[in-house]
Amino acid sequence: MSSDDVIGIGYLVAAALFILGLKGLGKPRTAVRGNQLGALGMFVAVLVTLLDRDIVSYWQLAIGMAIGAAVGVLLALRVEMTSMPQLVALFNGFGGLASVLVGAASFFEAVGRGNDDLQVSLAAALTAWIGAVTFTGSLIAFTKLQEVWDGLPIPAARIVNITLSVAALGLAIAVVAQPDQRLWFWLLVAVAAVSGVTLTSPIGGADMPVVIALLNSFSGLAAAAAGFVLDNALLIIAGALVGASGLILTAIMTKAMNRTLIDVLFGDGPASGGGLDADEVYAGKVTSTSADEVAMLLDTAERVVIVPGYGLAVAQAQHAVRDLTKALEANGSEVVFGIHPVAGRMPGHMNVLLAEAEISYDALVEMDMVNPTFEQTDVAIVLGANDVVNPVAREPDGPIAGMPILDVDNARVVVVIKRSLSPGFAGIPNPLFAADNAMMLFGDGKAAVVEITKALAEV
Ligand code: TAP
Repeated sequence: MSSDDVIGIGYLVAAALFILGLKGLGKPRTAVRGNQLGALGMFVAVLVTLLDRDIVSYWQLAIGMAIGAAVGVLLALRVEMTSMPQLVALFNGFGGLASVLVGAASFFEAVGRGNDDLQVSLAAALTAWIGAVTFTGSLIAFTKLQEVWDGLPIPAARIVNITLSVAALGLAIAVVAQPDQRLWFWLLVAVAAVSGVTLTSPIGGADMPVVIALLNSFSGLAAAAAGFVLDNALLIIAGALVGASGLILTAIMTKAMNRTLIDVLFGDGPASGGGLDADEVYAGKVTSTSADEVAMLLDTAERVVIVPGYGLAVAQAQHAVRDLTKALEANGSEVVFGIHPVAGRMPGHMNVLLAEAEISYDALVEMDMVNPTFEQTDVAIVLGANDVVNPVAREPDGPIAGMPILDVDNARVVVVIKRSLSPGFAGIPNPLFAADNAMMLFGDGKAAVVEITKALAEV
């Protein structure tokens, strides 16, 4: 068997492992195995790539891999769960940059050898365009999520973005028409890089998850395009898988927020604060409560729905919540968790946290399933959630109009646990906190839940 055959078979095995891994990731129960299969696929892919003696020297590879592995291990050990979306944004961005660099090197080399057919030059143009947008767009997304910089103010963003897209299209055509003119390629990279900034800068508030999912998909598409330049089947398959799964995730996210992709990318976006005045919304209407009072309510509750949000992650309250759930169940209450698709800061954030505390998957109920049950719910506990329970979304002209929410206000009593009346990620005041059937338990999520559990034992 020639080494080409071994490489081909190895790539096929790696691709099959990627697909099986993705399938496993579709369900919480099989997700860990799915992750392991994907990692095994990547291991096989790296091993097989090392057999390809054409690439670069083993020394260069070893140095690159050592630096990459060191950074990866350091990040995995140090980054908090709550900062994961920022990390994903960075990974997407560097994936885009890597595709541009690899695509450029391989394109110029192919053209130097006289191979400038349509597949190579078209793929190179797409790599440059998508990769550069992904790189700068992801860096802006990172600075926003990390709350270090809110991006550039872009006046008339829609016109700027459309103009830059048309310019990039013209340059992409020039790359295909004159592959030996490197200037077109680098101009395309420059224009695409600027448009990554202008596209992502105006997007804010609750639309960020959609952008991260979309950039994730772009990083895959850029890699797939680079795969066509390199003529590497595995890169094409792996890139296409990332691109497709990112697009599916983008579709799920836009649906969960009742937005369209065009709206997110080219719309004006929800105004910060949404024109609502917090003082007016809350003035004299907020009722605060205590752990003892909540415990008394829970003692007689037949059905309790807990709605977790980003604050649960910040407070690391998942284990305390499990203990409260057990105490309530022992007391005869039925307890379920209402999970909103964009609760927290990354897809599946709440599921991951609650699974860590070994809360049964069967107790996690998705938004569409739990919403009709709030009318039969005695107590809804909103734990560190805000935007995903904000009834302003039901107002047709409101700043988050149409975003589906968890209808906790239909429960008999709503207990909201958070530290203050400050707004959530979208920056909008929440009239739920001033509703007649709502009570605020101010404090850190974990400490509050521990106190309620203690008080429940003493009722
Ligand atoms: P948010 O609306 O962001 O509200 C979280 C609340 O948690 C805050 O109002 C905060 O209030 C409270 N909190 C923070 N630390 C706390 C602590 N230690 N103890 C108790 N409470 C604490 O969260 P959400 O309802 O989960 O909504 C998610 C938002 O993030 C949506 O707007 C969504 O679009 C966005 N987003 C989602 C994703 C994905 S993919 N899930 C990614 C990026 C952004 P206090 O400061 O008063 O305590």
